[in-house]
Amino acid sequence: MSTIISTLKESGDENRVAITPDVAAKLVHNQFEVLIEKGAGQNAYFADQAYEDAGAKVVSRDDAISKANLIAVVDQPDSETLSKLHEGQILIGLLKALTDLDGIQQLAKQKVTALSFELLPRTISRAQGMDVLSSQASIAGYKAALVAADKFARYFPMMITAAGTAKPAKVLVLGTGVAGLQAIGTAKRLGAIVSGYDVRPASRGEVESLGAQFLTSSVSAVGEGGYARQLSADEQQKQQAELIGFIKQNDIVITTAQVPGRKPPLLVPQEAIDNAKPGSVFVDLAASDLGGNVAGSKTDQTVVTDSGVQIIGAGNLASEMATSASEMFSKNVQAVINDVSDKDAQIKIDLEDDVMSQLVATDHGEIISDRVRKALNLPDKQPAKAETVPADTDEESAEKGDQ
Ligand code: NAI
Repeated sequence: MSTIISTLKESGDENRVAITPDVAAKLVHNQFEVLIEKGAGQNAYFADQAYEDAGAKVVSRDDAISKANLIAVVDQPDSETLSKLHEGQILIGLLKALTDLDGIQQLAKQKVTALSFELLPRTISRAQGMDVLSSQASIAGYKAALVAADKFARYFPMMITAAGTAKPAKVLVLGTGVAGLQAIGTAKRLGAIVSGYDVRPASRGEVESLGAQFLTSSVSAVGEGGYARQLSADEQQKQQAELIGFIKQNDIVITTAQVPGRKPPLLVPQEAIDNAKPGSVFVDLAASDLGGNVAGSKTDQTVVTDSGVQIIGAGNLASEMATSASEMFSKNVQAVINDVSDKDAQIKIDLEDDVMSQLVATDHGEIISDRVRKALNLPDKQPAKAETVPADTDEESAEKGDQ
């Protein structure tokens, strides 16, 4: 019996889709059956007909949920959708495993196997093709520079014209990881004078290799897995004070700083906004329900201060480039499916594998991920034995017990 893979139409303002027609065709070629909720690709400009042409079936939402062995999504589905999932199903997407602990516990309770891209061990080379955080951050960084250029009332490049010379814009990027480096590259290509700042000293070389200036932080904060760690209150104060000085010398500030599973650090305090030049533009890629990097930024909104400073809360810019973002997301999903399936298109997740043992948040009613367990104050878990997920539907999977 073939394994059924489905994808759903995302909710709210999310334009991306987790499986594109190209990837659907590859999955069909590899003997999977593919179900697509009607209209799932529409906002990313993938028509239902393109999926049909790829060999997938366009179905109702209920069928896409109930008949699938594996459901690929971009964002964590709403709780009503989660409640319809059944035991033994696999759900893969940006499931907010470290920040939506209620959602992840609900999935465990329903005995769904949840693979949350936020948990992927990104430095393992085999995982790089699965790295949704990088593929989407790269798009967001590129788009952030374009959004800033669009909202800024002056040129980015120096312009010498018969009517006079325009000075180039000065762009500062705070947080020079995947998104930040892409923002730097894009702003440079638009002709701005660009500098970057990060608490990981290792990022200096990457910033300088793009032709931008690296502003040295007096705080060094390298954490686990190559990420930054959270700063202490003293360090945060010191950092904000030095950033106020850097920020006022710039016209555009793009912020990208995240600490996995935690509230984003506040890098641009109110004082920096108050001192910014009129017409300055702040683009906050970290803006989320948890907060952002810029004081006063609001998710998906532009706040204009009395002094004419624009603060753009841009937490989901990848969704605004939905076609490219979905193409990359979908390839990342495909890489995971390839990794966990055999030549007969049967899915088998090895929970002892170095990538899967971290990517899997829940399985057979248990929280597998040590990072999620830590967030829930649960003791570490020894990895379980490999499990085979049969290509079945409700009836067979319901017979499986909690292990
Ligand atoms: P991220 O999205 O977690 O954070 C963005 C940037 O903000 C990071 O550079 C981080 O150092 C910085 N940041 C955090 N707190 C800050 C603060 N208080 N002040 C200033 N900057 C702050 O990070 P991202 O972009 O996902 O990547 C993080 C690291 O992982 C980087 O070292 C990157 O090179 C590495 N990485 C490695 C990969 C690989 O080996 N294949 C793949 C992806 C990322």
